[in-house]
Amino acid sequence: MIKVSPLRKRQFIGGITGLTIGGLLFIFLSLESSEAYISLGPMNSGHADVSCIACHADAKGNLMQQMQSNIEHAVGMRKNGADFGTSDVTTDNCLSCHDRPNDRHPTHRFTEPRFSDAIKQIDATTCITCHTEHKGERITIASVSMNYCMNCHQDLEVEDDPLDVSHKTLIANEQWFTCIECHDFHGNHTYEVPIRLKDTIPMKLIKAYLKGGADPYGNDKKYIGLTQLEWVKKMNNK
Ligand code: HEC
Ligand code: HEC
Ligand code: HEC
Ligand code: HEC
Ligand code: HEC
Repeated sequence: MIKVSPLRKRQFIGGITGLTIGGLLFIFLSLESSEAYISLGPMNSGHADVSCIACHADAKGNLMQQMQSNIEHAVGMRKNGADFGTSDVTTDNCLSCHDRPNDRHPTHRFTEPRFSDAIKQIDATTCITCHTEHKGERITIASVSMNYCMNCHQDLEVEDDPLDVSHKTLIANEQWFTCIECHDFHGNHTYEVPIRLKDTIPMKLIKAYLKGGADPYGNDKKYIGLTQLEWVKKMNNK
């Protein structure tokens, strides 16, 4: 018979019990918050299959580690469980699936001191300023205002401006709502940017898109978010 040290044995039993409790606890935690969740409203488009923990768990540590700490918390081995459900959703959570190398407005850029005044007006350092969740809306800032480009592009100068009404004129006339009618914010769509004011995308279509409707910049995207399965693989490889 193989001799197993009492310590190893305890670790082994602990591990198995942990895994079992972990599974149950995971379901329980989901149920516990499900009441609050139901009253929160539907998910953003594209997020039907995204699990709660992908956004609500500490982005550090992999899935098993998070479960493990929740288990240890439950059996009293640890003071705090992994942040699940109660933690603020961070930009790192979003970037774990949406880390696009081509973002023209990457959140990390705006931590530079020269943006501090602009950030007081529109906090572009975090995704959920513009995209909160459980409202069934793609871009939640839309209901506030789509004029926020003005906070950073007041001094814009476009060399050899191709527009029939120049950027300079648009800005002088404070026509900030026109920007989003020609430019997608992240620059993730492949499409031809209009050069005439009469060819801009009507604000009605933009607003419908921001709410969750059809994409007026077209369906040709350079970067697509990771699926739930791809995310789990990525986390377990960390
Ligand atoms: C795509 C990311 C995402 C997913 C997936 C997600 N949530 Fe959320 N959830 C959010 C954001 C953003 C908020 C707003 C809270 C904040 O500002 O941190 C929120 C808020 C909540 C709140 C309000 C209390 C709190 O913690 O702020 C509950 C409860 C909640 N979510 C439960 C769930 C449950 C249960 C699931 C899975 C069925 C889930 N969420 C899936 C992003 C997400
Ligand atoms: C587990 C991976 C995952 C996480 C975490 C995640 N997303 Fe997504 N998200 C997706 C996928 C997949 C899509 C659909 C494909 C696409 O549009 O890129 C999507 C779609 C979206 C869309 C709509 C795109 C469209 O055109 O309809 C927005 C906006 C978005 N995510 C923002 C966020 C924000 C903000 C967070 C953090 C609070 C977040 N996502 C967290 C995977 C994720
Ligand atoms: C200052 C506001 C703002 C912030 C901050 C912001 N977004 Fe967006 N986002 C928008 C607007 C406006 C659109 C619609 C225009 C477009 O499609 O680019 C959009 C569209 C999207 C889309 C759908 C189109 C695409 O590019 O695939 C995704 C996904 C998305 N955002 C994810 C994110 C994530 C992830 C973060 C944080 C890393 C983030 N956004 C931060 C305003 C914002
Ligand atoms: C928080 C500040 C901030 C906000 C808000 C902002 N931008 Fe920008 N934007 C920048 C910076 C910084 C650059 C990069 C300029 C550079 O590299 O010289 C940029 C670049 C751009 C570019 C050019 C990208 C390229 O690669 O040539 C476009 C187009 C653009 N922004 C449109 C918009 C539109 C439309 C809005 C409003 C929906 C907006 N921006 C809101 C800071 C901002
Ligand atoms: C009628 C469509 C249209 C409107 C309206 C418009 N733009 Fe542009 N914008 C363009 C085109 C076309 C270019 C040049 C090609 C490109 O970079 O995509 C451009 C270029 C830019 C650039 C890049 C400048 C550079 O030197 O690389 C920025 C930044 C920008 N626009 C911001 C804005 C802002 C802010 C607004 C709102 C005041 C706005 N645009 C309104 C079509 C438009």
